[in-house]
Amino acid sequence: MSRKFFVGGNWKMNGDKKSLGELIQTLNTAKLDANVEVVCGSPAIYLDFVRSKMDAKLGVAAQNCYKVAKGAFTGEISPAMIKDVGVNWVILGHSERRHVFGESDELIGQKTAHALENGLSVIACIGEKLDEREAGITEKVVFAQTKVIADNVKDWSKVVLAYEPVWAIGTGKTASPAQAQEVHDKLRAWVKTNVSEAVANSVRIIYGGSVTGSTCKELASQKDVDGFLVGGASLKAEFVEIINANV
Ligand code: PGA
Repeated sequence: MSRKFFVGGNWKMNGDKKSLGELIQTLNTAKLDANVEVVCGSPAIYLDFVRSKMDAKLGVAAQNCYKVAKGAFTGEISPAMIKDVGVNWVILGHSERRHVFGESDELIGQKTAHALENGLSVIACIGEKLDEREAGITEKVVFAQTKVIADNVKDWSKVVLAYEPVWAIGTGKTASPAQAQEVHDKLRAWVKTNVSEAVANSVRIIYGGSVTGSTCKELASQKDVDGFLVGGASLKAEFVEIINANV
């Protein structure tokens, strides 16, 4: 089964109206591979601005959301609010949410369920830390993280799984194509056993961690790498090269 290549940008806490406006202009006018689904993760405060400027063929994502629709949760935003400004995606479980802000698997699972129930699609992130890889427990860690997500998903067509080894994020140390393929293959096998063969065949498993214009092509050629989640390079014109990794 063919899976539509998916390239997400994660702008993190970067940019302002001027620089993001210029980046959006670059993306709106670039020649982008039509076989690729593109979704850009904007800081919450700019979601409305970004959605209003970005070409409709390009998706927009929030970088986080809370697990309920509204209420006394100072500083949080809900899927209902994200939808209200025309944005249809959210990134959940990013390693910075897990490890800088201490989000638990349980909370990420609850957020996933609530976001999906309220009509958002989810880029669900998983990935091992360096000490976990070195201890040989990469599979154990990513399977456990994936299980909590899977337990909260009913419609897998609304979910993209992003494998992002924490040691590769923002470090300039990209996983080798073989390292990425190995984990993606194991994740797909896990989904086959624990969800279904149909979902294993259709779910996009994307790689994140220091993806650049120069590393994207070989990574994209791996059988189970269905796209990327790109941080630093998604803020530059180089993002276009990454979107066009297969052309
Ligand atoms: P990076 O970030 O491309 O800057 O390593 C990836 C991510 O955090 O999603």
